[in-house]
Parts: sequence; structure tokens; C-alpha cells
Amino acid sequence: LPRLYSGMQPSADSLQLGNYIGALLQWKDLQASHDAFFSVVDMHAITVAQDPHELREKTRRTAAQYIAAGIDPSASTLYVQSHVPAHAELAWVLNTITGFGEAARMTQFKDKSAKQGTEATSVGLFAYPVLMAADILLYDAEIVPVGDDQRQHVELTRDLAERFNSRFGDTFVVPQAMILKESARVYDLQSPTSKMSKSAESHAGVVWLLDEPSVTRKKIMRAVTDTDGVVSFDRDGKPGISNLLTIYASLTGRSIESIELEYDGKGYGDFKKGLAEVVVETFAPVRERALELLSDPAELDRILARNADRASEVAEATMEKAYDRIGFLRRA
Ligand code: TYM
Repeated sequence: LPRLYSGMQPSADSLQLGNYIGALLQWKDLQASHDAFFSVVDMHAITVAQDPHELREKTRRTAAQYIAAGIDPSASTLYVQSHVPAHAELAWVLNTITGFGEAARMTQFKDKSAKQGTEATSVGLFAYPVLMAADILLYDAEIVPVGDDQRQHVELTRDLAERFNSRFGDTFVVPQAMILKESARVYDLQSPTSKMSKSAESHAGVVWLLDEPSVTRKKIMRAVTDTDGVVSFDRDGKPGISNLLTIYASLTGRSIESIELEYDGKGYGDFKKGLAEVVVETFAPVRERALELLSDPAELDRILARNADRASEVAEATMEKAYDRIGFLRRA
């Protein structure tokens, strides 16, 4: 089976709707036809300050949500990044073939570092995309299902794979991003021109997978719309309604047109009520299952340990090959 790799940062107690639609939905569908590796990227999370106790908890919670959303940890390899030391090792090697300017052009780095200021920005944040490249290349992944915001990082990964291969001989598989056009970007319900994000300043427009259904309903009913009163898709003119239509279509598998038709002549209130039911019905069982898994952290930790063993086997073999190619003396 072709290899697939993807991951998420454990940077909040709950995943948000954008993570679910942009990534998890695809993961779930693709796992049957791929040898899939899904990581909880705790090493990426520490590129900004984390509370140690909370990080540990968020890591478990993220893993539990993968499983609850339908990732099967006995068919796919679902593990914690820091459990496999090869990620740090390959990242170091790739750092040495990454241009300073090349890394400085990454838009996520530019945005985050501009917000924090140069002194508060860590070298780790700068090297973040290189670690991501290491994640992907260690597993010979052919495809990387992600949301649109990760496109540039996967492009960098391709460049680094090709550069290493041409300098040291064929070693890495050059991966391809897999980004669904319709659902690539979910926007904040309160400011529908910015991406929905775990690290948003206000959580009023962020729908969390683990929110109580009543909270989810309220957030959707309060979503920013417009005064035109027609449920129709127009990304520039009607960003709020367009975002809600995208969410509706992604979660039901229906076309935007059929939803526009259903709500033709009806108000935004009806439309939002319909959407709220769709989201609550999708998330309620996921939430229940995640909380159940979290009630037995020892069992969850055992699952993660088993999966880390499987990941290590693949990663160490790739690492050995890479060390050999670059001319490191083999330990006798
Ligand atoms: P992260 O943790 O920010 O997000 C996890 C996944 O969710 C997608 N996503 C969205 N999709 C649509 N709309 C949104 N509003 C939205 N917000 C987030 C992201 O595109 C991503 O697919 N660098 C990665 C984690 C990572 C990784 C990897 C991914 C580390 N190593 C290797 C793939 C392969 C990140 O920070 O994702």
C-alpha cells in the first residue's frame, strides 16, 4: 500500500472544526487504501512556550480525538512524535541543507514571528518546517493530506527531498500534498476572513470538537453573516455564509448547490439551525468516544507505545540509510 503521513500539534485541549474538516475527514477516508502514519507532533508544539503538565495532557487528548474520529490504531500507525528520536536526528541533517533565506520565506513563520517579535521568536520556530519535512521523509510518504495552510511546508519538503537525493544519491521519496479544494480552509465564525485556529485570540468563533452540544449550537447561531438574507455561496461578497455552506457541505458530503436549494427562500436562522444540527450530530459521538478513551489514560498510553514501536522500525531504517549516504562513520 502507498504510504501516507500527516500530523497535528497538541496545542489545545480540543481539536477545532478546521482540523476535522481540513485533515481528519480525509485521514479517515484514506487510511483503508494506505499504509498511514498519523503523529501527534509534540516537538512542533514546543516551538512556542507550553506548560509541561498541560502539554502531556493535550498530547493524550489529541491522540484520543484521532481515534474517536475514526482513525484505527491497529490498522494505521498513530503515535507521538517525541517517542521516535529519528525525527530530531533527520531534522538536524535537513537543517544543514536548508537555506537560511529559504526558511525565512515561510509565510507561517513570517506571520508568527511578526506577532511575537524577533527576540521572543525561537530558533525552533524558524526550523519548524524542517522538522515537518523530517516527519514526512522518514516514512517514505507519497501523500500528505493537510489543509491549505500547510501547502508551502510540503513544497519545502519536496525541495529538500530532491536536494538531498541529488547531492547524496536517491534516498527519499518526494511526497505530494493532498489538499481538498472545497474544504481546504475553514474560517473563524466571528471573523470569516481569517482561518479558524486553535491559537485564535478569541474563541467565540472557534468550534471545538469537544465542546458541549449547547455551546456548539450557540456559536453557530451567533456566526457573523451579512444583511442580504440569501443563502448563497460568494466567497468575497458573503464570506460568513460561504464559510457556513462549506462546513455544511463538507460534513454531509452534499454539494453546495443542493444546500442553497434547500434553503432557498428561507432565512439565515433556519439555515444556521440546520447546520448546528449537522455539526452536533457529527461531533456528539466523537466527543463521547474521546472522553471514554481519556477515562483510561494507561490503556491509551499502551496503544501509543505499541504504535511508536512500529513507527520507530520504519524511521530507523530510513535514518540509517541517510546517515550512511552523508558519510557518517558507522559505529563498529
Ligand atoms: P496544525 O496542528 O496547525 O493543524 C492540523 C491540520 O489541520 C489543518 N487545519 C485546517 N484545515 C482547514 N481549515 C482550517 N481552519 C484549519 N486549521 C488547521 C492543517 O492544515 C493541518 O492539516 N505543521 C502541521 C503539523 C505537522 C504535519 C507534519 C502535518 C507536523 N508535521 C507532517 C503533515 C505532515 C500543523 O501545525 O498542523
